[in-house]
Amino acid sequence: MRLPLLDTPNTDTGPRSIAAVRMLRVSVTDRCNFRCGYCMPADGVRWLPKNELLDFEEIETVVRTAVDAHGIDHVKLTGGEPTLRPGIIELVSRLRRVPGITDLSMTTNGFALADLAEPLRAAGLDRITVSIDSLDPEKFRRITRTGDLSKVRAGIDAALMAGLRVKLNVVAMRGVNDDEFADFAELTRSTPMTVRFIEYMPLGDSAFYDGAGMDEIGPAGGCGAPRNYGDVFIAEGDIRARIGDLEPADPDAGVGPAIVWRLPGGIGKVGFISAMSAPFCSTCNRLRLTATGVLRSCLFDGGEVDLRPLLPTRDLADAFVECVAMKPDTHSQRGNEQMSRIGG
Ligand code: GTP
Ligand code: 5AD
Ligand code: SF4
Repeated sequence: MRLPLLDTPNTDTGPRSIAAVRMLRVSVTDRCNFRCGYCMPADGVRWLPKNELLDFEEIETVVRTAVDAHGIDHVKLTGGEPTLRPGIIELVSRLRRVPGITDLSMTTNGFALADLAEPLRAAGLDRITVSIDSLDPEKFRRITRTGDLSKVRAGIDAALMAGLRVKLNVVAMRGVNDDEFADFAELTRSTPMTVRFIEYMPLGDSAFYDGAGMDEIGPAGGCGAPRNYGDVFIAEGDIRARIGDLEPADPDAGVGPAIVWRLPGGIGKVGFISAMSAPFCSTCNRLRLTATGVLRSCLFDGGEVDLRPLLPTRDLADAFVECVAMKPDTHSQRGNEQMSRIGG
């Protein structure tokens, strides 16, 4: 789908300028073996046909264009769950060989990392981010609907052992995991990783939880959603109140939107990604490539450009400029696609 161009002109330095884009997020599959309620519906997940996915040659062509034509030097592999894409190690090796990429990272649910951390590192991945929303095995299973916390924790340990720089993503949900924020932060006391608390974003057909029973109570944006969204949403200020004292810390590797702090005496960091209470759209520096080859200007909704028909041509580089000019001033209140198809 193409949305109309916005009125505001493109500038050389603003967020609608290709010069401001530092990162390409590349979704390599929409599939996932977890079913996190905030990310995808429990049933009725319709996977994209495999023959519609970009192949590795095509992904590499898009990435090379981003790097060569526009100097985009950070690349993040996402999903769905990127490790489910057959040949993911080969893709990492291919991208590592692209000159000009200074930061190659992946965001994963971590379930396969115990086996894959070492080969991913050997293939040239610089760092990894693991999603983990509870430290309680039973609660973790309910949030992910299928996940096994012990596998994810073993994956995190394997990633640290393999020499990958590690960040953890915790989607903050009132009444679901807000009793664990201090425990999550505490992990950074003696481990050199960054734990980031992400404000819940209402995207697509993901379900909301009601705090008490963690029952799914309706699709995002659907009937009653604003009330339920209000129930589960917890803003950075309230998250911080549950953690306690934090000191300023130097920014992390990467060009992401997290603002980081540290526990007094902690060796790791505690970060916040506060897209709802403090949108950072005016400094947005990323574009997103979906698994089927659509370049999205915004996580929520903005214009997008289907790169597939352009793939063999020089127009590919122009499409990046066209896409970034469609970034909204501020993201909408609700995304037009489910998170698992965009990769966050
Ligand atoms: P690094 O810190 O470099 O690893 O990047 P990152 O924090 O952007 O990556 P990650 O995949 O870990 O995303 C963390 C959270 O930030 C996810 O919930 C993303 O959806 C969210 N996020 C990342 N970029 C944007 C953005 O441009 N806009 C909004 N609203 N959210 C974003
Ligand atoms: N709101 C906030 N973060 C989300 N993620 C997935 N869905 C949402 C949402 N609705 C996070 C995942 C993952 C990252 C890519 O995005 O936890 O770590
Ligand atoms: Fe899968 Fe990640 Fe979405 Fe959870 S947040 S369902 S792990 S893609």
